[in-house]
Amino acid sequence: MNQPEKSCGVLLLAAGKGTRMRSKTPKVLHLMLEEPILYYPLRASLDAGFEHTAVVVGYEGEAVEHWVKENFPDSSIIWQREQRGTGHAAKLAQEWWSAYDNVIVLAGDAPLITSETLKYLAERHILGGSDCSFLSFVLDDPTGYGRVIRDGDKVRVVEHKDATESERAVREVNSGMYIFRTRALASVIDDLSCKNAQGEYYLPDALALIAARGGKVEAVLAGDSEQFLGINDQIQLANASRIMRDRIVFSLMRNNGLHCMDPSSVWIGPKVKIGRDVTIHPSVQLWGETVVEDGAFIGSFSVLRNSVVRENANLKGSVRLNDSTIGPRASAGPFSFMREHGELLENAHMGRFVEIKKSVVGKDSKVPHLSYIGDTVIGENTNIGAGTITCNYDGVKKNRTKIGSNCLIGSDTMFVAPVEVGDEVSTAAGSVITNRIPDGALGVGRARQSNIEGWSERRRKKLTEGKVS
Ligand code: UD1
Ligand code: MG
Repeated sequence: MNQPEKSCGVLLLAAGKGTRMRSKTPKVLHLMLEEPILYYPLRASLDAGFEHTAVVVGYEGEAVEHWVKENFPDSSIIWQREQRGTGHAAKLAQEWWSAYDNVIVLAGDAPLITSETLKYLAERHILGGSDCSFLSFVLDDPTGYGRVIRDGDKVRVVEHKDATESERAVREVNSGMYIFRTRALASVIDDLSCKNAQGEYYLPDALALIAARGGKVEAVLAGDSEQFLGINDQIQLANASRIMRDRIVFSLMRNNGLHCMDPSSVWIGPKVKIGRDVTIHPSVQLWGETVVEDGAFIGSFSVLRNSVVRENANLKGSVRLNDSTIGPRASAGPFSFMREHGELLENAHMGRFVEIKKSVVGKDSKVPHLSYIGDTVIGENTNIGAGTITCNYDGVKKNRTKIGSNCLIGSDTMFVAPVEVGDEVSTAAGSVITNRIPDGALGVGRARQSNIEGWSERRRKKLTEGKVS
């Protein structure tokens, strides 16, 4: 049951341009571990149990809106065409947040906030009967941040550019993350002024206004400043990525027993799922919705995106998988590439310098060396000789190849698709297969060899006599 006095929306401010990113991409869509920065505070809000979220968009807002609708379809979008400050952004969202008893306001460019901290802030605010609670932290160099000025039990925030010398000396700063009782925010939101150094409507000014009207405002001082790091340039983005990477990898090591000898070189995105007893060697990247099941091994220099590695599979290193699946006990690599829904079934193998696209390799079958397999289905227990290629493209469209079970495909066989070969089929090495091969047959499609006796000797003679040009 929803308890009405505790209902809480989360408003993410993401209309800013992010000039210092030096990029056409709006700041919140820059990637951190291959997910946009905005993914993280939205995820943390949902994980904390706050399912009502809204994002204020402005600069390149169409792109941000598009991404939000695709990825967080329940989230609302509020447009701020002109960025006139955080207070102005909050004002434009008033109709939205008025539906809740409380509203958490977060910056869309601060991705390291955790769901635990959000939960703690909201609980403390509600239990303490506050009108506004906000997170503060202490910095050695607080330049640029709003300073938290405590005066007895009163607290307010003054922006760096508006602060006096003595206020600038304060090292406790505003994180830019707040929870307001919406009635209290509504009572002051129209009274924010833009008469300040930046000519903007400052949301933190609401704190002093609420306090001046007898409301309770609390600064919650957090020990860990890392969670509040905002991203303003590429270097801060790299730093935040590293922090998030450590959090993800260490948590998998702690909770799932992930074995990882060099965690600082392993990159795992926030949506990746990993089972038990998985080993990951140095310099591996796992992105998107990748799943690695129990007992799998992932060798160095492998990069997996939206792919599945089933239990006890073995990626021997330098394997690249896009939207593909390696079956249970199957193996790949080193130097294998699979894409567009490629799949190795149980105990199948793809080896060195093999590319597989949109194809299924059956149980116990092997494609060990130097092959391209595209738009193909291979049955069980078939061995594909080195250098075999499915010629799937006729210049206009892609055509399919079907290879049966228990086949022995000779090295350097070309399957000119569309073509089907049955079970227990062999092909002669170097064959170009253009027609169906029935079950149990040998397909031969190559010129017969002929030998010219004494040819080498004759050639040498001609060369020494200067007769060959
Ligand atoms: C803000 C706080 C400051 C705090 C700091 C913490 C204000 C006035 N100051 O400063 O006290 O210490 O965060 O990082 O709020 N945004 C909009 N629309 C706007 C302006 C901003 O959506 O019109 C968004 C930005 O995209 C950003 C967030 O609000 O995600 C914060 O804005 P920013 O301009 O970065 O505020 P700061 O100067 O960092
Ligand atoms: Mg900022």
